[in-house]
Amino acid sequence: MYVLGIETSCDETGIAIYGKNNGLVANQIYSQTELHSNYGGIVPELASRDHIVRIIPLIQKALRESKLSPKDISGIAYTAGPGLIGALMVGATVGCALAYAWQIPAIAIHHMEGHLLTPMWENNIFSPQLPFLGLLVSGAHTQLVEVKNIGEYKLLGESIDDAAGEVFDKVAKLLGLKYPGGALLSQLAKQGQTGRYTFPRPMINQPGLSFSFSGLKTAVANTIRINKNNPNMKADIARAFEDTMIEIIMIKCRRALLATNLRRLVVSGGVSANCNLRKKLNEMISQLQGQAFYPSLKFCTDNGAMIAYVGMLRLKQNIDKTNLIISVKPRWSLEELSIL
Ligand code: KG4
Ligand code: ZN
Repeated sequence: MYVLGIETSCDETGIAIYGKNNGLVANQIYSQTELHSNYGGIVPELASRDHIVRIIPLIQKALRESKLSPKDISGIAYTAGPGLIGALMVGATVGCALAYAWQIPAIAIHHMEGHLLTPMWENNIFSPQLPFLGLLVSGAHTQLVEVKNIGEYKLLGESIDDAAGEVFDKVAKLLGLKYPGGALLSQLAKQGQTGRYTFPRPMINQPGLSFSFSGLKTAVANTIRINKNNPNMKADIARAFEDTMIEIIMIKCRRALLATNLRRLVVSGGVSANCNLRKKLNEMISQLQGQAFYPSLKFCTDNGAMIAYVGMLRLKQNIDKTNLIISVKPRWSLEELSIL
């Protein structure tokens, strides 16, 4: 049994094939970062148009990579949300059309569930047992999720304004780095000295598990403006910003682990590629005698494999209907999955 996964929620066209018995057998990805970097951020219409150009050749490439033919595919999983509506529509339309042509089910998948479950399939030797706490840190989300079971998700807290990756990208832009700047900012921070600048840590002294990053972003923007004539300030500001972000995320994570009494932490989404974040979270979780799980770097950011995997779970559970109505949800809460 094989599932073809299609991911087109943002600026990566990801196509993968996941087998019930042999795992990932094809993984193709085309990243549009070059296309959008000229604009300093994603241009939704350009993203949709580029997905249209890439998607069919990538599906053909994935079939060649896996040495499978369409008759070996048992289902097509596509990202139905959350994401950019035009971009989602491309994946959903192609997914449903192929499912109709190949007479197999089309399965609508939640993008964040894909991220959340990545460490469960990606490394079989070191995969988390249920239940666990999920920390989703991507370009569009910052969420703490209690995962009781597959498909049973409780949102414990999320950002009330910008997402973690979004703030990394915006601060990177202010520091003159190319989009998407998260990883570049982190590299720059390595050359900086800790403690040269200090920034506010919003919502740390209030109870609760919500995040807020816009005040921090403004403070960093003001500091950059005030110090613009100092040629050495960039790396030190990058260092201070990254340290602050990581500390905020770590404190909230620790709080959520204590509140739920969970000791397994799964960290996923683009920002989970950040080495210093991993280091700090590992220190925190080992103090609690728990364990943290991360995807390998290439599966932190968007990809089709995570969508194919969740599609396989749905197909095995037989809970998804063979529904070919093309419908996407640019906004979609993970908690809604619990009542499927
Ligand atoms: O999960 P993802 O590919 O896209 C969404 O679903 O949103 O995450 C992309 C985000 C971008 O904001 C990018 O700058 C950030 O992840 N990112 C990082 C690092 N690598 C990627 N942020 C901080 N440190 C990194 N090493
Ligand atoms: Zn993502």
